[in-house]
Amino acid sequence: MTQKKRIFSGMQPTGFLTLGNYLGAMRNWVALQDEYDCVYSVVDLHSLTVRNEAKDLRQRRLSLLAQYIACGLDPEKNILFMQSHVSAHAELCWILSCYTYMGELSRMTQFKEKAAKQQDNINAGLFTYPILMAADILLYQTDLVPVGEDQKQHLELSRDIAERFNGIYGNVFKVPEPYIPKVGARIMSLQDPGSKMSKSDENANSYILLLDPPETIMRKFKRAVTDSEAVIRYDVKNKPGVSNLMSIYSSVTGKTLEQIENEFEGKGYGDFKTAVGEAVVETLRPIQEEYNKLMESKDYLQDLMKKGAEAAGRIAGKTLSKVYRKIGLA
Ligand code: AMP
Ligand code: TRP
Repeated sequence: MTQKKRIFSGMQPTGFLTLGNYLGAMRNWVALQDEYDCVYSVVDLHSLTVRNEAKDLRQRRLSLLAQYIACGLDPEKNILFMQSHVSAHAELCWILSCYTYMGELSRMTQFKEKAAKQQDNINAGLFTYPILMAADILLYQTDLVPVGEDQKQHLELSRDIAERFNGIYGNVFKVPEPYIPKVGARIMSLQDPGSKMSKSDENANSYILLLDPPETIMRKFKRAVTDSEAVIRYDVKNKPGVSNLMSIYSSVTGKTLEQIENEFEGKGYGDFKTAVGEAVVETLRPIQEEYNKLMESKDYLQDLMKKGAEAAGRIAGKTLSKVYRKIGLA
């Protein structure tokens, strides 16, 4: 019997998931759960790089776990856990930070973007964030890391750190590969299709949340920025808004871009936006129902967190022990 390949990924409990998170990441995770040995974390330590109220964070990390399951991640098939419940993450992060260069971290575009956004709180954690991410991945001897395109640079860094460490100490870590889906890899803002759909956007009309009620979803799509040509055609350069709506529609219906162009030939943007909105509402409906049920079963979620942390801790502990031995701390 060949062993299944290992997958690791995680999301920060910094807010509610957007349609971008779902189509670019989460749905992909669900598709992988049968074929791979998957470990999915709520990376709560990462979210400390921005300021949180304790009670909000406590609520949001539980909510994110519920959103994972509501989106279709089966807790029986996957290891689902809170990053902070497995102390090996913080421990390995420190060790790896001694094998990572300031220059490498300075090149991270996400650091530059985030630092620009929170100039009053450019904390060291924001800078060393990718090392914690490398620790997350390397602890599980991960083969593949499904993430959106924006995380590719962090993944490259994880690979570099793993190779550097292995170069000194022998084969300690598996060198992970990125796993980036083509369709839905980057869902753009509905208000500014030049930037990605993000839950931290100030304009709530720019994103669709997984938990947005149907009326809100329809309204946001109706207000989506398009262009004045009134032709439904995929052309990211000249028609970024329409192309983004087409990607979304394609992602949720499975139709090809060509089929979509044919479907809406001779029709206006109004019809098209309604169709996109309705398709998204139908996709999210069962997720929202399941989410509401889960949030009423807090005990179940607590129990699941405990089991997840135990299972994750067993795997992570093995790697960490090996690291300790190799570097002379054991
Ligand atoms: P974030 O919301 O930035 O913490 O991202 C969580 C995960 O969702 C990462 O794997 C991202 O790459 C992915 N993601 C976030 N926003 C988008 C988007 N607009 N389109 C596609 N994937 C996204
Ligand atoms: N940095 C990732 C993001 O913002 C979240 C993350 C943390 C992650 N650790 C990870 C993703 C490990 C994949 C693997 O989306």
